[in-house]
Amino acid sequence: MTKLKWGMIGGGEGSQIGPAHRLGAVADGRFELVAGALDHRPAKGKAFAESLGIDSSRAYGSWSEMLDGEKNRDDAINLVTVATPNATHFEITKSFLEAGFNVLCEKPMTMTVEEGEEIYKIAQKSGKVFSVNYCYSAYPMVRQARAMVRSGDIGKLRLIITNFSHGHHADAEDAENPRVRWRYDPQMAGVSGQFADCGIHAMHMASFISDDTVDSLSADFASTISTRILEDDAFVNFRLSKGTVGRLWTSSVAIGRQHGFDIQIFGETGGLRWASEQPNQLIYTPLSGRTQIIEKGEADLYEDAKRLTRVAIAHPEGFPLAVANMYMDLADAISGSDRDGLPTAQDGLRSMAAVYAAVKSAKQNGSWVDARPPIFSDENKL
Ligand code: NAI
Repeated sequence: MTKLKWGMIGGGEGSQIGPAHRLGAVADGRFELVAGALDHRPAKGKAFAESLGIDSSRAYGSWSEMLDGEKNRDDAINLVTVATPNATHFEITKSFLEAGFNVLCEKPMTMTVEEGEEIYKIAQKSGKVFSVNYCYSAYPMVRQARAMVRSGDIGKLRLIITNFSHGHHADAEDAENPRVRWRYDPQMAGVSGQFADCGIHAMHMASFISDDTVDSLSADFASTISTRILEDDAFVNFRLSKGTVGRLWTSSVAIGRQHGFDIQIFGETGGLRWASEQPNQLIYTPLSGRTQIIEKGEADLYEDAKRLTRVAIAHPEGFPLAVANMYMDLADAISGSDRDGLPTAQDGLRSMAAVYAAVKSAKQNGSWVDARPPIFSDENKL
């Protein structure tokens, strides 16, 4: 099988998410890294690209140079990953999609709802493969949870509780550190801090497992470190379109919580619990029954969970392999197969609408607001 050609923008040396993409993309031998504009400093980006084995002719100094270079090649990249800071996602993604490339964009997809709508429309029109890196949805036991909900194993859903709360920005003395400060600065981060950074992963997960969309929400935001303009803690109550009640807590000052992403789904006949720090187990309790631990790698899992499992039972599979599952499905999608579960531009747009709705609600002392993107809000009235 010929490998697909892959290019990366951002994810330079020392970046947080770059290594997970590089491990994930090559895990199945479906992609090879052949082009990159990896750093906002051109010389550093080129040198790092070459150190990764990228030919010097395709080690670019900027994303626009890469676009010009790649669009005229017979052996152009089949997929580009956009792993730069948030404010650049829109422009880069739009330019590559319009030039006919398949794109994987990091979250949040854009900075505004209007930009999100534009990407959604361009992606639809282009017919190209486009996804947003909501990679937690690609863990095998998350897929097991989704398949159990779809199969009715826990009955009609009543309630979803999800948290994405860590304590890594809790040090008030460190609040001015440039790597931390931008996340709470509206010039760099947009209208929301912690909710846009981590909360949207949790909200996407709630929608993903329940196969439902968020209609409305009420938010309480707090900047617990008072010099921060944007929130470092948020509690968001929400309602899904089929009536399920949702509650979400996200924080970056929760000392003692490490990654801190978990979700509980309660239906009429059972409950499920999954946590990113124990990703290989799904906890299942049937109504009036014993709690069971369902392990990744067990024989009778649902097909989607089996498909995305790579190593034998009890051998841990973690974050880079969840990202690898994204790339496996992207490779299939680029080769013409439908891949149910791959996050879409619609997911990216819905997240942006939720962010803006949460900001609006928080400013109105938690009043309930419509959380749907305007282009979908007539689809099913509140
Ligand atoms: P980072 O600050 O650690 O790294 C950003 C990298 O992009 C650096 O190498 C920088 O030089 C490069 N860069 C910046 N501007 C560029 C430009 N115009 N052209 C080319 N390269 C450029 O940031 P981090 O934490 O890696 O985040 C990057 C993105 O990934 C963000 O949008 C973030 O929200 C997302 N992210 C997603 C995660 C997930 O679970 N899906 C986890 C962590 C981050």
